Amino acid sequence: MKKLMAANWKMFKTWDDAKTTAEELVSLTASNLPEDREVLIFPPFTALKGVAEAMASEGFSAGGQDYYIEEEGAFTGEISPKMLMDVGATYGLTGHSERRHVLGENDEYIGQKTAYGLEAGLNVVFCIGEKIDERKAGKVEEVLERQIRVGLKGVPTDIAPEKLSVAYEPVWAIGTGEVAGPEEIVAAHTFTRKTLISIFGEKANEMRILYGGSVKPGNCSDIIALDNVDGVLVGGASLLSESFSQIVLA
Ligand code: G3H
Repeated sequence: MKKLMAANWKMFKTWDDAKTTAEELVSLTASNLPEDREVLIFPPFTALKGVAEAMASEGFSAGGQDYYIEEEGAFTGEISPKMLMDVGATYGLTGHSERRHVLGENDEYIGQKTAYGLEAGLNVVFCIGEKIDERKAGKVEEVLERQIRVGLKGVPTDIAPEKLSVAYEPVWAIGTGEVAGPEEIVAAHTFTRKTLISIFGEKANEMRILYGGSVKPGNCSDIIALDNVDGVLVGGASLLSESFSQIVLA
């Protein structure tokens, strides 16, 4: 199973900047990318075509940060998986905490989106994670289990395991500089793996579980070496090619 080193650029970067950053990233990492690593960028929609072109080599790919649950229609402002794939995306992102907590998406809608994206042909990175008050109340497993069971309810159990990755991103660690500790990461990832196995059976051992939340060049190699950590989803530290290339090669 290849480790997935993913960048989420959120609402940052113009077309030119995005394309240049992706090109720089490929030139900094392509010649020494370990065989067991895959690199993925989720740029804003407006830069997706340029980034997908820059990433069009073995081990590199691009994805859409969001999409709607129909192929086309009167859905002003929305983008479909078909449209993402048309400009070279092979991945979609669902359940990100900013879509849950800023844009108001609930578990059921995220579940519809995850199942639809997979059915439409995308690989999906599905995000989960507890808020700080939920952690303090001892509800981490309860929250993760609900997010996983509802969020993956519509995914067929015969899904090819490499198509679906889960990103554990504790909300309190996102963009705060406060990375989760190794025990916290291992506990959440192990619980996630156990829950995935209870849904999909043993092949869930081949589904990647990524960690996200204040990953930086200085902490990535320790995080990536932990049990059940099959990659990272990086926000702030992925915006510069120099910094993200160090993470990719960590
Ligand atoms: O999708 C990425 C996460 O939200 C992590 O963001 O690396 O800036 O903490 P961050």
